[in-house]
Amino acid sequence: MLLPECGTVRPVMSDSGSSFKLVDVPGGLPLFGHAGIFKKNPLQTIAEWWRRYGDALRFRLGSNTLLLFSHPDLAEEILVRQADRFVKVYDPRRPVGLALVLGNGLVTSSGEVWKRHRRIIQPIFHRTRLTAMADRMVQIGEQRIAGWSERTEQPIDIAAEMMALTLEVISHTMFTTSVAHHLDQISRALRVSLRYAFDSFHNPLHPPGWLPTRRNREFRRVMGFMDGLIYSLIAERRGSGQRHGDLLDRLLDARDEETGAGLTDQELRDEALTIFAAGHETTANALAWTWYLLATHPDVKARFHEELDRVLGDKRPTADDLPNLPFTRALFDESLRLFPPAPAIQRKAATETTVGGLTLPAGSVVLIGTYNLHRHPAFWPDPDRFLPERWLKGDRSLSRCAYIPFGAGPRACVGTHFALLEGPLLLALIGQRYDLQLAQERVEPQLMVTLRPKDGILMTRHPRRRLATSAA
Ligand code: HEM
Repeated sequence: MLLPECGTVRPVMSDSGSSFKLVDVPGGLPLFGHAGIFKKNPLQTIAEWWRRYGDALRFRLGSNTLLLFSHPDLAEEILVRQADRFVKVYDPRRPVGLALVLGNGLVTSSGEVWKRHRRIIQPIFHRTRLTAMADRMVQIGEQRIAGWSERTEQPIDIAAEMMALTLEVISHTMFTTSVAHHLDQISRALRVSLRYAFDSFHNPLHPPGWLPTRRNREFRRVMGFMDGLIYSLIAERRGSGQRHGDLLDRLLDARDEETGAGLTDQELRDEALTIFAAGHETTANALAWTWYLLATHPDVKARFHEELDRVLGDKRPTADDLPNLPFTRALFDESLRLFPPAPAIQRKAATETTVGGLTLPAGSVVLIGTYNLHRHPAFWPDPDRFLPERWLKGDRSLSRCAYIPFGAGPRACVGTHFALLEGPLLLALIGQRYDLQLAQERVEPQLMVTLRPKDGILMTRHPRRRLATSAA
């Protein structure tokens, strides 16, 4: 199977070392630049600008100048070849955006702190160590959909369902049952805090955090709740010495192989919250979009059901079944292509540097337009069509970095294997039991932290097989 790292696929259409021309997006206003249009619909704006003006663009949000790069060669330069020159945009001394919530965790840290934490955390997410979690994922999925058998004609919002399901999966794998009673509160706290962080970063008119506005107070309240919960779990585990074999245990026991040092409480809090936040909304949206694409492509759905019936029959899916479910995996890969949960990746040039013949001054902020790369007509035949079978052909003609749903280079997603286990397993489990049909006319993508369906996706559930639920 294709791993989403640059360089794992054969480049056929891109010339490395190509030169690009930087185009200024027209229409910026004196003070606000392009903030008005960008804020209204960031996803549509970056897609439209790219189609209209090209692969290398410059625009302004208030006083900040940003570059939008939508070509695999530029993505590869920034994320892989010159990764050490392009850092995250967060400064631990003045936290903004996601850093307000995630502190100095893997997503938001840079430099030596990030290197040390990545060394500690990466082995926890190694493919072989995760396989043991697959059964737990399936059990949680079974329990969640056990309630679906009633009032099946009543549409449910499948996006909200997938969000609740993946939150349950990550909280069980992270904290076993310790937070089971708080899931609704956690879900709300994450939603409020991440939306706040996103808005504070992208909206030049966002009021400063010290002002006693209703939103600022609510943000502080939900952060207080999450900090209290996580710190008390850490203290309890450290105090009792009890072990549950979950991710929190692995974080507590993890040691830097170079220095032998573990993580402090504050570092544990930041990493636990980071994994919690990064590890559920992305996968939930990927699943929601996959159900939407299946519901709007009946021929693909028939092939999906055929594969599940042939390979699984009435048997619950396990990690061992995944190699025998190539079409299910291809669906997931193709859905990640058309609706990448992280549709843009942001970096800042630490020093003056040249990419694709363009000289970027130190401090330049770059957006890699993953959404655009994934639909680039120079690299994808029929780029806007949902064609899972493109992933089944042996000779995929892809350029490096034309497909980066999990990012690329040293900062690529540490949870890639987790997501590629969880996504196809939950698809198989649910698809085996239910045929999900669309019950709403319009579904619109919206970039709000991740790429989500703006008003959810209403679907009806039509039972296919009634299978016994295993005991947890
Ligand atoms: C379909 C699901 C997922 C997608 C599409 C996704 C996407 C991404 C992307 C694009 C990045 C790189 C961001 C950048 O370069 O700035 C990233 C980083 C990260 N992801 Fe994921 N992710 C997914 C699932 C997960 C899961 C399940 C976990 C944890 C259980 C996770 C944890 C992380 C962490 C900790 C990072 C930061 C890595 C670092 O900077 O060292 N992600 N993810």
